[in-house]
Amino acid sequence: MAGFRELGLAPWLVAQAEQLGLSRPTPVQAACIPPTLQGRDCMGCAKTGSGKTAAFVLPILQKLSEDPYGIFCLVLTPTRELAYQIAEQFRVLGKPLGLKDCIIVGGMDMVAQALDLSRKPHVVIATPGRLADHLRSSNTFSLKKIKFLVLDEADRLLEQGCTDFTKDLEVILAAVPAARQTLLFSATLTDTLNELKGLAMNKPFFWESQSEVRTVEQLDQRYLLVPERVKDAYLVHLIQTFQDQHEDWSIIIFTNTCKNCQILNMMMKRFNFPSVALHSMLKQKQRFAALAKFKSSVFKILIATDVASRGLDIPTVQVVINHNTPGLPKIYIHRVGRTARAGRHGIAITLVTQYDIHLVHAIEEQIKMKLQEFSMEERDVLGILTQVNVVRRECEIKLEATDFDEKKEINKRKQMILEGKDPDLEEKRKTELARIKKKNNEFRARVQQTLQEKQELQMRRKLRKRVRRQQKAAGKES
Ligand SMILES: Nc1ncnc2c1ncn2[C@@H]1O[C@H](COP(=O)(O)OP(=O)(O)OP(=O)(O)O)[C@@H](O)[C@H]1O
Ligand SMILES: [Mg+2]
Repeated sequence: MAGFRELGLAPWLVAQAEQLGLSRPTPVQAACIPPTLQGRDCMGCAKTGSGKTAAFVLPILQKLSEDPYGIFCLVLTPTRELAYQIAEQFRVLGKPLGLKDCIIVGGMDMVAQALDLSRKPHVVIATPGRLADHLRSSNTFSLKKIKFLVLDEADRLLEQGCTDFTKDLEVILAAVPAARQTLLFSATLTDTLNELKGLAMNKPFFWESQSEVRTVEQLDQRYLLVPERVKDAYLVHLIQTFQDQHEDWSIIIFTNTCKNCQILNMMMKRFNFPSVALHSMLKQKQRFAALAKFKSSVFKILIATDVASRGLDIPTVQVVINHNTPGLPKIYIHRVGRTARAGRHGIAITLVTQYDIHLVHAIEEQIKMKLQEFSMEERDVLGILTQVNVVRRECEIKLEATDFDEKKEINKRKQMILEGKDPDLEEKRKTELARIKKKNNEFRARVQQTLQEKQELQMRRKLRKRVRRQQKAAGKES
């Protein structure tokens, strides 16, 4: 395969990449860098940990060095931590240029950000919500001259789900010029391809890695069939085993809700495991601190919601445990992709209850391979079962005593205000809707009951008639 030089990158950039350990381009880099340098739009779909970030950072830096001005490039990404990680790649690779970057994400001081934006950085890396807020509220900066728009984890940015970016994206797309280069990257682009094509219309170049299997070869993928109420005991035993057997180990445990994430973290601490939690109900400072502790290997276990499932590049992670089976294969692909990155080995273990088997089948169909069973000594698990369940209950009670649920309610209200809704009105609407629903259900139940009574009456009449006929017939005979 050609080197970075042959792909058209300048010697200073090739040298800088080499200094950072990027000596040969990965396939996605080899495929996407030349068309990007030629001025084409690019959609790159390559497996997790395959170097998609450098595939857009390198050509953008080269173009920036030829005609430097600010704001030259805008990168959008779904999570705050990922924005910081991408900014770091720009910073280290663009050091010889004296690159000025600016990170615009929620949870940080908005005034300082506005000031940063007005200083015309070369590259702005942002999450859509906060950038759209700046665009709505200030005219001290303009995105009208950007050359590059990058959507990292593009399918996530375009999908409509719990965090819906579509409204914010509309604001941002209206603020950037139509004559620009658009670069879209993800490990799972294909099912949003049509929406993506609407964004990248400048001689778009689409590249997808050839391999049939959607996860990396070096990843050992396992499942562990467990009854729901012994899940935690299995988890504790699994971690204990890893701790006993490996000197240098790092684990990410994914779970489905912020509350569960918090409880699991409290439990891990009770068992003296070095763990930290990362979820959206923490303050941004706490989120950064948790990630920093985990990255520096001071804390070996990161318990996270899907806020950490995409893009994060932490080479020391050898194990990913799914405490819940992901409801969507796409989420599974990104979660397990936090290990076995850049050619390293890793293992992913998914805890599967009797209710989740169909989810595993959907995952297997999507990734085009079967998960193998992870064997475990059940006797050891049974030995700690009661203790683990008691600890969970105690942690739940402890959390209930804090204002965790209340905070959740406040966050919800804040979100509504940000979306321009009145939380009290919404609450009233919700109660009214619930009342109407209840009334409808009661009405339906009453109709059902009347119908049933009618049917029973008819049946009884029919039966009585039949009995009478039979009696008559019997009378005649006698
Ligand atoms: N050419 C290269 N040679 C060696 N290592 C590389 C090369 N390019 C990138 N890497 C390293 O590979 C790791 C993963 O890269 P990156 O985070 O860009 O992956 P990704 O494809 O964006 O994954 P994800 O889909 O999870 O976001 C990084 O640590 C990066 O430094
Ligand atoms: Mg990435």
